[in-house]
Amino acid sequence: MSIITLEHVSKAYPSPGRGGDPVTAVDDVSVEIAEGTITAVIGYSGAGKSTLVRLINALEPVTSGRVVVRGQELSALPERQLRRARRDIGMIFQQFNLMESKTVFRNVEFPLRLAGIPAERRRERVRELLDFVGLADRADNHPDQLSGGQKQRVGIARALATSPSVLLADEATSALDPETTQDVLELLRRVNDELGVTMVVITHEMDVVRALADQVVVMEHGRVVEQGDVYRVLSDPRQPVTRRFMRTLVRPTPPHAEFAELRRLHPGRLLSVRVRDDHDVQGLVERVAGREGVCAELVYGGVNTVQGRGFGYLLHELTGPADAVTRAVDELTADECIEEVA
Ligand SMILES: Nc1ncnc2c1ncn2[C@@H]1O[C@H](COP(=O)(O)OP(=O)(O)OP(=O)(O)O)[C@@H](O)[C@H]1O
Ligand SMILES: [Mg+2]
Repeated sequence: MSIITLEHVSKAYPSPGRGGDPVTAVDDVSVEIAEGTITAVIGYSGAGKSTLVRLINALEPVTSGRVVVRGQELSALPERQLRRARRDIGMIFQQFNLMESKTVFRNVEFPLRLAGIPAERRRERVRELLDFVGLADRADNHPDQLSGGQKQRVGIARALATSPSVLLADEATSALDPETTQDVLELLRRVNDELGVTMVVITHEMDVVRALADQVVVMEHGRVVEQGDVYRVLSDPRQPVTRRFMRTLVRPTPPHAEFAELRRLHPGRLLSVRVRDDHDVQGLVERVAGREGVCAELVYGGVNTVQGRGFGYLLHELTGPADAVTRAVDELTADECIEEVA
């Protein structure tokens, strides 16, 4: 069942200069997000990711198209009902956006006050939330007494205060060091697992995609250029932008200077083999090399896993009699997962 549906959604901002063309931040995007899933939205700076999530919680009105969350078309709701609908959509931010002059308790309590919850119930709920995020002993601290990871935990507790069914995260771990990032990702996993909250996370970090995502949506110039199951997108990226992104996680070849050194040691023909768990391409290389009497030596590799399944690249050097190597290269490069590296 889809909980968030975007139908031909566009968002244009007035031109920054006078008389210029409007900026189309989101351009005819249609996406369906199933209940209980985690979707990662990736793409380079300016691709329209933040605008897209601001449309999902109606922080911004759409220019055209429909945004439907839990059966309600947000763009059609009057302000009063919109405020109520927003309580069902929590959001966390890169810079945490906490009120610095207020205690942790007051920060988490804030949305409950807005929702008109009586004081006694608010207190109970805040305790419960701080327990859940592991900050029960920090209720009376101010944000400046907390680490970045703790601040984000407060942000998460606040976002969950009104028991939303959707949580939106805009670069929620980008300001954190790698270890703290892992802790916060683990907490977000629990939010999904234990509370069943559907999540949409914007990120430029492949680790976040790997650790959290069920689906990936790739944006470029305001459009969704690729979307699908996380393993499919990572192991078989179809768009150039997705391939570039994926290469930040596993490199098909070493960086420049190192590659020159590798080339000096291995002057033979090089084949880059894309590893997927549904295609024994490594076995194919061994079979063809064996049959042609050439040697296939593994000279570089980067393999990673997502959802327990391997993906990445292996670089082989083929050496032996020239005509046999040529036959092997020709046969192997006919496979869509194998290409020759110059
Ligand atoms: N309030 C605004 N007014 C005018 N233009 C805007 C506004 N917000 C965003 N834009 C423009 O819309 C486009 C998409 O911006 P957006 O912030 O959604 O990108 P992003 O993918 O989140 O980028 P980043 O990774 O840098 O956060 C950009 O060209 C941006 O300049
Ligand atoms: Mg952004």
